[in-house]
Amino acid sequence: MPNYIHKPVMLGEVVAALRPRPGGCYADGTLGGGGHAAAILTASAPTGWLYGCDQDGVAVEAARERLAAFAGRFEIRRGNFAELADWVAAGSCDGLLLDLGVSSPQLDEAGRGFSFQQDGPLDMRMDTRQSLTAAELVNTLGADELAKIFWEFGGEEQSRRFARAIETDRRQRPFTSTVQLAGLIERLAPRRGQRTHPATKVFQALRLAVNDEIGALRRGLVAGLKILKPGGRLVVISFHSLEDRIVKEFGRERSRDYEFDGPVDVPELRRARAPELKWVERKAVKPGAAELADNPRSRSAQLRVMEKI
Ligand SMILES: C[S@@+](CC[C@H](N)C(=O)[O-])C[C@H]1O[C@@H](n2cnc3c(N)ncnc32)[C@H](O)[C@@H]1O
Repeated sequence: MPNYIHKPVMLGEVVAALRPRPGGCYADGTLGGGGHAAAILTASAPTGWLYGCDQDGVAVEAARERLAAFAGRFEIRRGNFAELADWVAAGSCDGLLLDLGVSSPQLDEAGRGFSFQQDGPLDMRMDTRQSLTAAELVNTLGADELAKIFWEFGGEEQSRRFARAIETDRRQRPFTSTVQLAGLIERLAPRRGQRTHPATKVFQALRLAVNDEIGALRRGLVAGLKILKPGGRLVVISFHSLEDRIVKEFGRERSRDYEFDGPVDVPELRRARAPELKWVERKAVKPGAAELADNPRSRSAQLRVMEKI
């Protein structure tokens, strides 16, 4: 798959966090083009093993091709990382990587409908086997539900206004293309010199909703903890604050030596329990200046590392 070009983000930092070694067993829940996976297999040669998955069939094929030189040392499946524990044995891995979000080929291929820079179908499915598309959300949800998505997943301050305009516009002509939707948002909120396109947050929100990215992340962290051995590391790269908050909350909750009943942490209601993990890096690690200069898409990356106890 020679056209699948994705620069793996924070490669050195990922390898340092996972510490691959011969005989070790690792999992990559977001294979993409297999860049991180190849680095893990190289660093764990000659006997390290890798389980890998991606829900995008194009990515899985690209990764298979990229990893051909490591034949006999990996098992790859097309699937959601939220389901990793269904096929990777509990307590079997020394490390898991989740490099969240979309890949460059997904963004750059107009036909996938992730980008408003080029015209394409309003699709945004990472897993093209699922039926729900962005067009379906935009054309069928009520204005309140759409506004909720734009606000909760995109932080879009004009969420209600945009949602109401979509509801009105689609009566004349349903939304089918990325440029059609971006055009409406741009008419409602003209750019006035800003660098970011006014539809950026709406597109991010729709993408997160179509792919249930927040739900998958929550379930993926739980599955990840299950498949790790004690001492195994969970390494997560997120690209926006919503994802990072979920990773942080998961780490905070699971590293506590107590749990509590109810929605607020009242000291009197605490029950002692053994923590399940500890932070290796309490603060998020960010790409260095050289990487930022070389790969502008890495600019919002944040890496967090936890270790199973
Ligand atoms: C940032 S790219 C990963 C790039 C990869 N680390 C590399 O070196 O090429 C994210 C990939 O994760 C996949 N992905 C996102 N969420 C997923 C999920 N819940 N389950 C499986 N794959 C997912 C996307 O399809 C995409 O290919």
